[in-house]
Amino acid sequence: MANEIVHKNSLELTQCYDNSTFSEETEQKASDGAKQEQQETTSNGWKNIKPYAGMPKEVLLQYSRKTCYRVPREILFWLIIAATAVLIATTIAIIALSPRCLDWWQASPIYQIYPRSFKDSNKDGNGDLKGIQEKLEYFGYLNVKAIWISSFYKSPMKDFGYDVEDFKDIDPIFGTMAEFEDLIAAMHEKGLKLIVDFIPNHTSDKHKWFQMSRNRTGKYTDYYIWQNCEHVNGTTKPPNNWISVFGNSAWEYDEMRKQCFLHQFLKEQPDLNYHNPDVQEEMKDIIRFWLEKGVDGLRVDAVKYLLEAEHLRNEPQVDSSQNPENITAYSQLYHDYTTTQVGLHDIIRSWHQTMDEYSREPGRYRFMVTESYDNEEIHKTMMYYGTPFIAEADFPFNFYLIDLHKNMSGDGAFTLVDSWMKSMPKGKWPNWVVGNHDNSRVVSRVGRKYTRVINMLLLTLPGTSTTYYGEEIGMENIDVSEENYSANRDPERSPMQWDNRTNAGFSDANKTWLPVHQDYQTINVEAQKIQHNSTLNLYRELSLLRMNELPIHRGWMCYIWHDTNVFVYVRELDGLNKAFMMVLNFGNTSTTNLASVLPELPKEMTIRLSTMYNKNSGTVSTEAVQTEQGEGLVLEYKTNHQVHKKKEFHDKCFISEKACFISSLNILYKNC
Ligand code: GLC
Ligand code: CA
Repeated sequence: MANEIVHKNSLELTQCYDNSTFSEETEQKASDGAKQEQQETTSNGWKNIKPYAGMPKEVLLQYSRKTCYRVPREILFWLIIAATAVLIATTIAIIALSPRCLDWWQASPIYQIYPRSFKDSNKDGNGDLKGIQEKLEYFGYLNVKAIWISSFYKSPMKDFGYDVEDFKDIDPIFGTMAEFEDLIAAMHEKGLKLIVDFIPNHTSDKHKWFQMSRNRTGKYTDYYIWQNCEHVNGTTKPPNNWISVFGNSAWEYDEMRKQCFLHQFLKEQPDLNYHNPDVQEEMKDIIRFWLEKGVDGLRVDAVKYLLEAEHLRNEPQVDSSQNPENITAYSQLYHDYTTTQVGLHDIIRSWHQTMDEYSREPGRYRFMVTESYDNEEIHKTMMYYGTPFIAEADFPFNFYLIDLHKNMSGDGAFTLVDSWMKSMPKGKWPNWVVGNHDNSRVVSRVGRKYTRVINMLLLTLPGTSTTYYGEEIGMENIDVSEENYSANRDPERSPMQWDNRTNAGFSDANKTWLPVHQDYQTINVEAQKIQHNSTLNLYRELSLLRMNELPIHRGWMCYIWHDTNVFVYVRELDGLNKAFMMVLNFGNTSTTNLASVLPELPKEMTIRLSTMYNKNSGTVSTEAVQTEQGEGLVLEYKTNHQVHKKKEFHDKCFISEKACFISSLNILYKNC
């Protein structure tokens, strides 16, 4: 029987390859089964027909049913099914195992432009949007892709653009809407992302809403926070003791409405009433307006002041024995009823949802960063990160490093970095700000000797750093004492120093809105471009390093050492034997023995970058790493002993999202 089957199959196979299939001779050689099969075909009347193009179904079937055709066909069929299943499974596995790509707001540092001071294109002494467009190449040079332009909305400029008269218009100082549209198109063409200000807490008193609110026009009546107050002989008795951020009562009497309105900032910046749903809708409409224009992100201004307690109770005094009459400074009260009120985060989350409507297109994620100084109350700042289930800001600005000068030391730097890291919700993305338009320039705050090491810190920590324009070249506060400028925040807002021409290449006007710093002959972009050991070139190298080296881009950070002089941390990635050790000196000349902390370190490490360019190559001995005051080193080394895997470092290491590297495939994956 078995022989018969073998015989039959071999016969049929011969038939498959025989051009003269179904000759009488072949038929005779066939086994009983084969004969029966052939008889069936005979009964169909197609017995002696050979296959030909366009053959009818019956002929086709006569051949295709033969085992010699059927078996390979079935094998092929199942192979294809299996291959497809394997392909789908592999694709799912790769997707599941790949770490998320970093989004644009994580991948690049943010560069903050104060538009009035960046570049003047029309010789009026004020920077403008067209000026920014002229300078777009500069961001390529800096390896920066995310640009935040501070307020450029129509404004009477009482608070330099943060008193907005029309949220949907550009102030003529800065240009026109058409110029804005040109600018954003040009930026997108260059792969740059644009973050703009969203200033929701208040408007200018010139805003049409306020004008209509003053005379109680329809729904605008309750757009602001109005209260009855006594006003006799030009003197107002405010409804309570609340003080404005800029000092004195937060209430101002309005002659037209015969009531007081609340202003947490200047009296020309009345606070909007967020208990009014119409106001909330109005602000969402403004968000949509700018997102439709194509902006990629919003920096949400002064968020903690959005809501005030409706009961209007007095805020507690810091010094309860102080005469309430003498309370005029913001710092003299605890702001229990005017900041961080219940409902605040719901409002910000609703804005995030509005932004999400515009984030669905691939690659068009709209980013949100909130501005809130919460000082010692870091947990309040962390609330803006949202919860695992409800998204809020992508990150709240981290202003804590602005205070580094108060304890300028390795320990000081460590404490500020660690306080953010340990307070930040798990899996969130850190960020670092060391200067902005509201704070003294870094050079003026900490001294020139530390500016480079601070840039090194910002760009080698995990997360996104923000650079205020000019900090990359080490600009300094201007001296405003001799002219009629405000000593308050003007000094750090002086024109960008581009080159050594008149007005530092910022403007061809006779007079610029703020004076240019007199050091512009040496502290300027052009001079520093050609000086290989400049602050600018170090910034550039650092941003390049951050962009190109995976461990610095998205690896672990572990604290290795800190003392009064140095702060030392490592950046490493699972699967990659290349690691980077940062030795940053915020104190005095010091020698650090890294081998005593990590004996398995190689004897020598390569200097990848140094703030002192004469040292920018060669090696250091791990047992004695020497650093001068304000010196920073990025050391590179090879290792198979990663620090974050060591038990004693478990609480000293941090990563936002785990990623590991397979060197053979040159890819990242997670689940390490
Ligand atoms: C933010 C801005 C600041 C402005 C204030 C009021 O803090 O950064 O410049 O004065 O909000 O709008
Ligand atoms: Ca408010």
